[in-house]
Amino acid sequence: MPVITEIEDLRRKYKWRVPKMFYDYCESGSWTEQTFRENTADFKDIHLRQRVAIDMTGRSTKTQMIGQDVAMPVALAPVGSTGMQHADGEIKAAKAAEKFGVPYCLSTMSICSIEDVAANTEKPFWLQVYTLTDDDFMQRLFDRAKEAKCSAAVITVDLQLLGQRHKDLKNGLSAPPKLTPKTLADMAWRVPWGLEMLQTKRRFFGNIVGHAKGVGDAASLMDWTHNNFDQALNWDRIREFRKMWDGPLIIKGIIDPRDALEACNVGADAIVVSNHGGRQLDGALSSIRALGPIMDAVGDKIEVHLDSGIRSGQDVLKAVAMGAKGCWIGRAYVYGLGAMGEQGVTKALEVIHKELDMSMALCGHTDINTVDRDILMVPKGFSGDWE
Ligand SMILES: Cc1cc2nc3c(=O)[nH]c(=O)nc-3n(C[C@H](O)[C@H](O)[C@H](O)COP(=O)(O)O)c2cc1C
Repeated sequence: MPVITEIEDLRRKYKWRVPKMFYDYCESGSWTEQTFRENTADFKDIHLRQRVAIDMTGRSTKTQMIGQDVAMPVALAPVGSTGMQHADGEIKAAKAAEKFGVPYCLSTMSICSIEDVAANTEKPFWLQVYTLTDDDFMQRLFDRAKEAKCSAAVITVDLQLLGQRHKDLKNGLSAPPKLTPKTLADMAWRVPWGLEMLQTKRRFFGNIVGHAKGVGDAASLMDWTHNNFDQALNWDRIREFRKMWDGPLIIKGIIDPRDALEACNVGADAIVVSNHGGRQLDGALSSIRALGPIMDAVGDKIEVHLDSGIRSGQDVLKAVAMGAKGCWIGRAYVYGLGAMGEQGVTKALEVIHKELDMSMALCGHTDINTVDRDILMVPKGFSGDWE
């Protein structure tokens, strides 16, 4: 077993273990992948201010996200089809998160259902919902979240239509995979993945099949998703969703200060500055560049989180220093899951925690809650001097 010291080690291992179709689904951005690349690259433009001879004993990364205690300011982001990266993937990721003490957010488009995850975990998780036209389905989704004791709902607002990822189209992505000569040849190499997948019955979209009207199989599911993502979505419609859910609400997918202000007006408890990991509008600003102007606009009105591009604890530290109350990780934990199941997700969290804790100490802080902009050296014009 290779020694795993960084998230990149998990990505390499994941690439070997999982069929190409699902690796590509995760490791891609839309169109030219400019935003996907810049999400990670832009973090590197920010430097950390090293301090010395400051007592660094008794450190803590504990804090709160939407009033809930967390072992570090990190949550597991909603990732569709996680159960195709590893059998029962959502349950495994949720278990790793709860043992570590960080929130897990289940996607609407998950393989394991809300009820499956609830039955296999002890602590409440968050549920992400897409904005769909089918009101009955939406209300039922919120009701199911309530019954499962979810401690927050997350409305993703940046997917009225699906960004085009070339690789998914070329690979003929589907869940479960269609058995063509090409996919069969690829899966023949992934024996442990295939054997585990054969042992689970969870291979379809568990939140949808059997719950949405007229969706009983993979073919009807495709039609339903195409017809139901709401291209007419507006902030009034989001207010209607707010009425369907009376618990803590997070709006995910904000990259512009004007939209951040709108999100405050619908009564959300937090927003996530996110460009969907570079999977929607290619050419959009990276999240870390977008964070500063959004903090200026709404930082005193609402809790702000950030995702897209986090691959290390140093990235988390930089986002927190710029004002984010927490960060969400997507690919970083999927690499771990695909590579080593639940143990791999735990490994990803341990790697990020260690990097966060040590970097915080070397910047002269012992408590994550005291970290501020002073630890950063941000290049002039980092957030852009755009016309
Ligand atoms: C494979 C994949 C599937 C995703 N599925 C969803 C989803 O179902 N719902 C959602 O709100 N975001 C989804 N996202 C976006 C993530 O929640 C998150 O915003 C993104 O992964 C953050 O970027 P990072 O992967 O660089 O950390 C997905 C991301 C990936 C990589």
